[in-house]
Amino acid sequence: MKIRPAAKADKEEVLKFCIDTFEWGDYIDQVWDLWYSDQAGFLFVAEEEDSLNDKKQSSVVALSHVSLCPNKNNVWLEGIRVNPNYRRRCVATQLINKMISYGREQGASKASAIVSEKNIASQLMMERNGFIVISKWNYYSINNITRMVNKAKLGSKVATLKDIEMICDYLRHSEVFKSSGGTYVNSWKWYPINLYSSVLADLIENKKVLLHGNNNSIEGIAIINRDRHWNKDNKSCNNSNSNAFQIVYLDASNVFALKDLISFVMILIHSEDVIYDRLQVYSPQITYASIAMEQTGTIRSEEFLLYRREI
Ligand SMILES: CC(C)(COP(=O)(O)OP(=O)(O)OC[C@H]1O[C@@H](n2cnc3c(N)ncnc32)[C@H](O)[C@@H]1OP(=O)(O)O)[C@@H](O)C(=O)NCCC(=O)NCCS
Repeated sequence: MKIRPAAKADKEEVLKFCIDTFEWGDYIDQVWDLWYSDQAGFLFVAEEEDSLNDKKQSSVVALSHVSLCPNKNNVWLEGIRVNPNYRRRCVATQLINKMISYGREQGASKASAIVSEKNIASQLMMERNGFIVISKWNYYSINNITRMVNKAKLGSKVATLKDIEMICDYLRHSEVFKSSGGTYVNSWKWYPINLYSSVLADLIENKKVLLHGNNNSIEGIAIINRDRHWNKDNKSCNNSNSNAFQIVYLDASNVFALKDLISFVMILIHSEDVIYDRLQVYSPQITYASIAMEQTGTIRSEEFLLYRREI
């Protein structure tokens, strides 16, 4: 088995075994070109030499993508797929080792990945390779956002840099922040919100941090994202141009604060020129968030485990 960087010509062969990977299909066809040209990472494939009628020929039997996070301290592992005919032969393990070697070469000290709570094989694979769960997340994808009632009491607002100390103080004491592993989501990657770095200030400057509270105390924080990018829900609606408004971190000390933050998001969604056809919410698994989301009539779409390992 040889692990090597993917070549352009591998795409066709790879896509043949990346069709029905999950019950909803797969997304490798939508990300291959992006991953292939990733300047901050590598798309790897595993190549197996087969002997057929005494003739040797090689086939590409697996792939994975690794990328270096902007803080350069963490590598993100994703898209591990092994052709069903080649599973349980340590192919995925070899890909993981290759991605970790890449991370070490880049000076990273941690590797992370996300796995669906339903994907037991992948969880066992991660654990077998020394990864541990540092955080559990709920993911909601809400299509018909127009039906969501807006009852904001306007106790929420877009944060400004004046609020940063209070926000840091809130997060430092927040059980939700602790349970999130100190991370937020961007394009299906979980990034650290290091309170002593510029991450939070950058998010605030980009008007991506919402808070619930007043000048004296904060009771909830949400981080939002308006970027348009690929998301796997497009697969089911077959619409690659859909716009998703996202809540990529959700934290509150009570249900009221949380519901008010969600209502405030609805105001933002309806006040913008862009038409959003879905709201996606990524929330650390906390009871408050589940209750608040259920009260908006939203059913949880999926649960994810965030894995991390020192490398
Ligand atoms: C999950 C997947 C990548 C594993 O690939 P693989 O090459 O078979 O994995 P490995 O052979 O390296 O397995 C390493 C260890 O993981 C565990 N493991 C892997 N697949 C398992 C399974 N189906 N059941 C139980 N344990 C499993 C085992 O501990 C295994 O070691 P062992 O075979 O010595 O017992 C493969 O099943 C796959 O492509 N699944 C569909 C796509 C997917 O789920 N990708 C991950 C998305 S996060």
